[in-house]
Amino acid sequence: MHSWSLALAFGLFSGVYAHVVAPRDPQSSTAASINVPTYASIDAASALGAKIGPSGYYTEDFGGGAYMVTDGSYQSLVLVSNDGVIVVDAPPSIGHKLLYAIGNITNASVTHLVYTHNHADHIGGAAIFDPAVEIVAHYETAQLLAQVNDTNRPPPTQTFHTSHTIGCGNQTLRLEYKGDNHIRGNIFVYAPKQKVLMLVDVIFPGWVPFSQLGEAKNVPGFILAHDQVLAYDFKHFVGGHLERSGNRQDVLVQKEFMNDLFTNCKYAIDQSATNNPILGAGPLLAAVSGKDSGNPWALFKVYLDLVVGYCSNTTNEKWLNRLAGADIFDTDNAMTMIESLRIDYGVLGPFQLQ
Ligand SMILES: *[C@@H]1O[C@H](CO)[C@@H](O)[C@H](O)[C@H]1NC(C)=O
Ligand SMILES: *[C@@H]1O[C@H](CO)[C@@H](O)[C@H](O)[C@H]1NC(C)=O
Ligand SMILES: *[C@@H]1O[C@H](CO)[C@@H](O)[C@H](O)[C@H]1NC(C)=O
Ligand SMILES: *[C@@H]1O[C@H](CO)[C@@H](O)[C@H](O)[C@H]1NC(C)=O
Ligand SMILES: *[C@@H]1O[C@H](CO)[C@@H](O)[C@H](O)[C@H]1NC(C)=O
Repeated sequence: MHSWSLALAFGLFSGVYAHVVAPRDPQSSTAASINVPTYASIDAASALGAKIGPSGYYTEDFGGGAYMVTDGSYQSLVLVSNDGVIVVDAPPSIGHKLLYAIGNITNASVTHLVYTHNHADHIGGAAIFDPAVEIVAHYETAQLLAQVNDTNRPPPTQTFHTSHTIGCGNQTLRLEYKGDNHIRGNIFVYAPKQKVLMLVDVIFPGWVPFSQLGEAKNVPGFILAHDQVLAYDFKHFVGGHLERSGNRQDVLVQKEFMNDLFTNCKYAIDQSATNNPILGAGPLLAAVSGKDSGNPWALFKVYLDLVVGYCSNTTNEKWLNRLAGADIFDTDNAMTMIESLRIDYGVLGPFQLQ
C-alpha cells in the first residue's frame, strides 16, 4: 500500500502536499522540513489486500455477479445483472477507473447508482455516469446534499425512509436504514444472493477506525452499528475503505477494540473524579486555574489531554500489533470517545452534577 496515496485520497495532507509540489514562494517549507513521524510498519497480512496493479485498481469477485472495486483507499460495490448494472458509491479517487473496472466485467450499462451516504469522498465521482442513471439514496442524504449544491454529487432521483429493494434483472439489492451512525442517512446495503453486506465508514477491516472514529457524527449510533452489522447473514463485508473486503471476524475484532476504547476512556474519566495519583483531576485543575486564571478552555484542554492520553496509551498496549494504524489515530480516536462519553453518555467525571 502506498501510504502517501492513502493520505492524499483521504485529503489528509492536501495542504502540505500542495506546498511541497507547488510552493507559492521560495521560502515555503520543503518536504525535508516537514517532520514526518515513522509509524509502525504495516506488515500484517490481515491489514492488506491484493496488490493494486499498474491499472490503479483491483476488482475482487464475490461470485454471482457481485464485485468490489478498490484503489487501495476507497471501495465501490458493483452488482451485474442480466438487465443492467447497479453500482454502489463512486469515490472520486477511483474516478474513471470505475468505468474501466465495470467495462472489464460486462458490456451491460449502468442503470442504478446507490449513494451509501452524502460524503464527497465516497460519491463525488458520480458525474462519471450517464445523467439518465437512477440514483437511489436515503431521504436524509438527499436533504444533506441539498444544503451544499455540489454538481459532482447529483441529487438522488429516488429516496426512501426505512428500506428499499432494487430489483434489476436477476439481482436484488436491499437498502436499509437503521438510524444515524457515521452520518445520518448512512445505509446498510445487502445483496442476499451473494451474502455481501456494505456499510461505509464504520468497520475498517484489519485497521483501527480512521481519525475520530471514522469521523463519526453519532458515536452511540456508530457503536450500535457493530451489532446491526452482525445481525446480517453475510460472507463478504465492504467497508468503503482500504484494500481488502472484510468478513464477520473483522467486525468482531473491531467490536472488541471499541469495547476496550470505551472501557479505558470511561475508566479515565471516572478516575479523574477521584484522588487517583495519576488521573485525579483536582490538583491538575487547581494548577491550571492558578496559571491560566479565568480561562475555561485552558482548563478543559489540559484535562482532556490527560484522560485522552491515558485512554489512548492503555488501549494501545493491547492493540498496537493487532490492528494496523493503531499508533496513528490513537489520540484522535480516544478524544472522540472521551467527548462522546462526556456529552452523549453523560460520563462527566469531575464535571458531574454537584
Ligand atoms: C446474474 O446475471 C449476471 C449476468 O448474466 C451473471 O453474471 C450473474 O452471475 C447472475 N447472478 C445471479 C445471482 O444469478
Ligand atoms: C479494461 O481495463 C483496462 C485497464 O484499466 C482499461 O484500459 C480498459 O479501458 C478496460 N476496458 C474497458 C472496456 O473498459
Ligand atoms: C463486450 O463485447 C465485445 C464484443 O462482442 C466482446 O469482445 C467483449 O468480450 C465483451 N466484454 C465483456 C466484458 O463481456
Ligand atoms: C444551487 O446552484 C444553482 C445553480 O447554480 C443555483 O441556482 C441555486 O441557487 C443554488 N442553490 C443553493 C442552495 O446554493
Ligand atoms: C502516554 O504515553 C506517552 C508516550 O509514552 C507519554 O508521554 C504520556 O505521558 C502517557 N500519558 C499518560 C496519561 O499515561
